[in-house]
Amino acid sequence: MEGGGQYNAHASAQAASATLGVELFRAAATSAPVGPAGAVTVADYGASEGRNSLAPLSAAVEAVRAARGEDQPVWVFHTDLPDNDFASLFHTVAEDPGSYRRPGVYTAAVGRSFYEQLLPDASLGLGWSSIAVHWLREVPGPLDGFWASTATAEQHDVWARAGAADWSAFLTARAAEMLPGARLVVVVGAAHGQGRARRSGAERAMDEVARGLQDLVDRGIVTDAERAAMTIPAWYRTEAEWEAPFTAGGDLVLEQLRFVDLGDPLWQQTGGEGYADTVAAALRVSFGPSLLQGLDPERRSAVAAELFDGHLARAIAAQAPEPWFAWRLAIMGIARRSD
Ligand SMILES: C[S@@+](CC[C@H](N)C(=O)[O-])C[C@H]1O[C@@H](n2cnc3c(N)ncnc32)[C@H](O)[C@@H]1O
Repeated sequence: MEGGGQYNAHASAQAASATLGVELFRAAATSAPVGPAGAVTVADYGASEGRNSLAPLSAAVEAVRAARGEDQPVWVFHTDLPDNDFASLFHTVAEDPGSYRRPGVYTAAVGRSFYEQLLPDASLGLGWSSIAVHWLREVPGPLDGFWASTATAEQHDVWARAGAADWSAFLTARAAEMLPGARLVVVVGAAHGQGRARRSGAERAMDEVARGLQDLVDRGIVTDAERAAMTIPAWYRTEAEWEAPFTAGGDLVLEQLRFVDLGDPLWQQTGGEGYADTVAAALRVSFGPSLLQGLDPERRSAVAAELFDGHLARAIAAQAPEPWFAWRLAIMGIARRSD
């Protein structure tokens, strides 16, 4: 994600998505078991700059304290990749009026992939992850284009296998960290459709970004080789793929899985006013860093500005005013067996 406060400023669609998991998270918090040092340990997997985590974490802290008393210590671990802008995250937790910060609630961060175990065995009381586990560990293999909907049949199979392995690895790591009876709530983008016909709901915008890249190649701003190397490792899973790792007798139980067709949060939030620029900034902060990571760092922000704030915003503004996205969310409540 783009740092420097940019993700926080332009991630209102993700904020709207997270809201749908808050009540489930609040309910899970009421029975969160106490871990090391007498604290309820809470982890936020894929936190980015943190603003969208504040509302769910505030709800969880309130629920933990309503159940266990106002003095109950709570230890919050925000986790993300090492290059995440953790400075913005710590400022957000310290200064945002919506912060969960209060006496006896402690903040820490882990800069390591959530496909590994991040906390000691049986230490976690409560986990949250919002709009993060559609990011694969790495680009699984070649793709005809930069967005998975352009995959050939063979490429689709390779990506689907990687998607299955990564979701299993994520859950295996969480199962080790969770205390018996602990719960994990995951809110994440899910696929419309099945197999190769799967769609994320962002294809119209991604097709326009592809046209923008072609324009940058034609103008000599990006080379053909640079464009060919661009791939976004995002994978939108089907119901069967989300359910697959939960087997009878396994450590984790999928207590709840529901899907919500959210439509286009940015259209709903803007009412169409300034929609093109809002979409361009949202895509730039969320996908720009991954798409353009192969470019020299000094060219990256200029290319991102041309591609998203320039081409994409102009293309959206030039077409009929209407929503461009169809967000589909999977909302999961997962428990660590206590027997
Ligand atoms: C779209 S942001 C979501 C941020 C926030 N949870 C929200 O709801 O707005 C996805 C975050 O997941 C992080 N992420 C992606 N892959 C990851 C991995 N393997 N390990 C940890 N974090 C990862 C990204 O760096 C990014 O900050």
